[in-house]
Amino acid sequence: MSRARLGDDILETHALRVWRFVLNDLLTNGFVVQERDVEALAVIDPGDRAEDLIDAARSWGGDVRWILVTHLHGDHCAKVEELTRAFPGAEIAGPAGGPFRPDRPASGGECLDFGAPTIPVPAPPGHSPESVSFEIEDQLFVGDFLFRLGCGRTDGPGASTEAVFETVRQVFSSMPDDVVLWCGHGPPSTVGEERAGNPFWRIALEGEPEEAVAEVGYRGATVPVLAWADDYDGGRKALLALADGSRVIVPGSQVERR
Ligand SMILES: [Fe+2]
Repeated sequence: MSRARLGDDILETHALRVWRFVLNDLLTNGFVVQERDVEALAVIDPGDRAEDLIDAARSWGGDVRWILVTHLHGDHCAKVEELTRAFPGAEIAGPAGGPFRPDRPASGGECLDFGAPTIPVPAPPGHSPESVSFEIEDQLFVGDFLFRLGCGRTDGPGASTEAVFETVRQVFSSMPDDVVLWCGHGPPSTVGEERAGNPFWRIALEGEPEEAVAEVGYRGATVPVLAWADDYDGGRKALLALADGSRVIVPGSQVERR
């Protein structure tokens, strides 16, 4: 049996089973997904706890077809090699250019065979430019593009708040409300919940507020905060409007209250 910990949980739908593992102190999520008709498995974002993910996949029959990686930050992909050693028949799909060699390099727009259904791969850049997500039936694994009612930070290399907003408009604005969004950290959400309550999505869809909600210190300057969001770890994220016209989403620890 797998060594389940507090925070691990299983969701069963008519078509899939999803086992969420909280991998580390950053509360990064890894997943074992089973297609129920033919019992095919996928492991998503094996960033840590490789033995537990392997045990879980074996306890669900062991037919791992895919090892899927949403983006190349180490907490999401550090254990890919261990998973491939345990399941040599599995193919790796994810962004190229990282610490593993994908059998199916993914940059968005691909479609993977997976038992009865297929896995479309939308590209949700923003948090990191190579990010992709995996849509299995009505379950979408979005990596750090989204944290429930918030967002992954966009102050890292190649990150882009405008790409987050464009993806919200292009990919998510027309999706059905009941699509489940599995975030890279913290609990899952749905498209409907995010459209109704995510303060960053609201700005992406409706434009900036007339007035800033606060002013904070950031990298030596005083800058307006366009929105705050609660974070999965008890902290907050701030959407800042910088003097050069760009916008950035940063953890609350990066700003000084004024
Ligand atoms: Fe990340």
